[in-house]
Amino acid sequence: MAKINYIEANGNVHTVEAEPGISAMEAAVKNAVPGIDGDCGGAAACATCHVYVDPEWIGKTGPAQEGLEKSMLEFAEEVRDTSRLACQISITPALDGLQLHLPERQH
Ligand code: FES
Repeated sequence: MAKINYIEANGNVHTVEAEPGISAMEAAVKNAVPGIDGDCGGAAACATCHVYVDPEWIGKTGPAQEGLEKSMLEFAEEVRDTSRLACQISITPALDGLQLHLPERQH
């Protein structure tokens, strides 16, 4: 299991235990983390799972992938260099402690 921390814009932190193999979107939806809807079910087709990876973690998750993920992020608001679609971040034991910040408008 890996502990994933979802940090709301107001500072509220939601820590969930995620099993390796699922996505950071699925872990959030399963645990009713506010601000991550996952409307398209993880197909990189809705951007309701937009998160900012904490700068200290972006080296481990990697940046947004070329193709589907990057093009869908064009529809998200306030995109930054650390923006990712949580459904495209696959949980691995190496991501234990991962910090994901939620955009202000998603809640
Ligand atoms: Fe739709 Fe991630 S769940 S883009």
